[in-house]
Amino acid sequence: MDKELVHVLLGLFSTLASTTVFVICLKLSNDRNKKKLPPGNMGFPWIGETLEFYKAQKGNRLFEEFIQPRIRKYGKVFKTHLMGSPTVIVSGANANRFILSNEFKMVVSSWPASSVQLMGKNSIMEKQGESHRCLRGLISATFGDVGLETLVPKVFNSILSHLGQKWNDREEISLYRSTKAMTFTIVLECLLGINVKAGMLETFEKILEGVFAPAIRFPGSKFSRATKARLEIHRMIVEVVREERQQMEACGRLQEREGGMLLSRLVAGLIWGEISEEEVVDNIVLLVFAAHDTTSFAIAMTFKMLSQHPNCHALLLQEHVDLMRDKRPGEILTLDDVKKMKYTWQVTRESMRLFPPIFGSFRKAIVDIEFEGFTIPKGWKVLWTTYGTHYSADYFQDPLSFNPSRFEEPFPPYVFLPFGGGPRVCAGYQLAKLTTLIFVHLVVTRYDWSLLYPDEKITMDPLPFPSHGMPIKISPKM
Ligand code: HEM
Repeated sequence: MDKELVHVLLGLFSTLASTTVFVICLKLSNDRNKKKLPPGNMGFPWIGETLEFYKAQKGNRLFEEFIQPRIRKYGKVFKTHLMGSPTVIVSGANANRFILSNEFKMVVSSWPASSVQLMGKNSIMEKQGESHRCLRGLISATFGDVGLETLVPKVFNSILSHLGQKWNDREEISLYRSTKAMTFTIVLECLLGINVKAGMLETFEKILEGVFAPAIRFPGSKFSRATKARLEIHRMIVEVVREERQQMEACGRLQEREGGMLLSRLVAGLIWGEISEEEVVDNIVLLVFAAHDTTSFAIAMTFKMLSQHPNCHALLLQEHVDLMRDKRPGEILTLDDVKKMKYTWQVTRESMRLFPPIFGSFRKAIVDIEFEGFTIPKGWKVLWTTYGTHYSADYFQDPLSFNPSRFEEPFPPYVFLPFGGGPRVCAGYQLAKLTTLIFVHLVVTRYDWSLLYPDEKITMDPLPFPSHGMPIKISPKM
């Protein structure tokens, strides 16, 4: 064969070989880049399935009418389109663990624009990494052993004074509204150390009304009213913070002792340059928001369940009668007494399992996420929910029945999660527990009570609440 022909053949062969290699590589890389999205329906353009979601949520039937039918059709990981964002809803303990424990690494919390503007962009819910850790440290320090010891008498006296002022000489009371006012005072006065001033609760309520409303400012809109209220609260709190700073600096008390008030702890952080004044203010607003509707709903549902289950009520009452046996009449409770309320806490947890004050929350994927064979693309929202485990027979036997004694044994992590999980697990869990247990103790030992509307519906907007405020009949025990 002549030399020239050999060269041509070799040239052809090498071109063919490199083209083949290129095509194979391209195919492999395409396969790798091809995202397998979870199954599901993205609904109509832009609005997606938002209307169905809202409708189910309003009737407190989000699981039955929205999530469960889709799990049956598509499985425990499905896609949808909610409030302008492509979203993946995940269910089950594995999914909860995966999403919640990957906070900051694969996902970040994602709140509506109105919530961020009204709570403030410096609140803990918007923080990540080191600044999140620093704020959590300041809040959690209040709930150490010494902190809890000092918190119990404060919460006890605050509830006692609330009952004295609002329940005495009344035959009927809205349990939900009453506990909302009470938890407001507790978070401000007992946790933070800020005196509640006239009109403060009403101004805060106006902010809360706008927290999930569309962030559109036109005269008379919920969001406009809320923004105005937010400015008013901002002014009030800035004044309180500056006064506290002046006092602390004047007496050289530049560090808060263990068991001290959270306001002083935050202001100490401000003096030491760990946090800014804006951060102090935004986090005070956030704490009031986080503590308020949640704890009052948990208390309301505990009483609803007790009224429907007289046997449980009898067992619970016995626990408190036994506790009182070792105490003088009117004697204040201690942390040890609260720790003895084991059955009461089982009743509250079982009530929160069936009626979670926060049903779940949204995250945003900050990278492409591979989960159970599917890709959740970067930028999409992810919704984890309590429903996927709380209402599932995989984790709770006969899941829809009320059975507090199931809490005699602990559950595996990420199964029972009314307080969330991972780095963003509820920072005020201890205060919610103390408030609920002490309130139940004082009410069941001092009042006979009954629900006025035993079948009162629960509404969600977007947090759940009893639609008539849960009126109860009360009379002091003889
Ligand atoms: C029964 C009452 C309560 C329930 C059911 C509840 C539930 C929750 C849940 C589910 C989360 C996590 C949200 C998420 O993952 O996006 C959370 C976070 C939080 N909660 Fe609570 N909460 C309650 C009471 C309180 C109270 C009394 C306080 C304050 C004193 C509080 C302060 C907070 C804070 C600051 C966070 C944000 C933590 C962070 O981002 O690191 N909560 N809560």
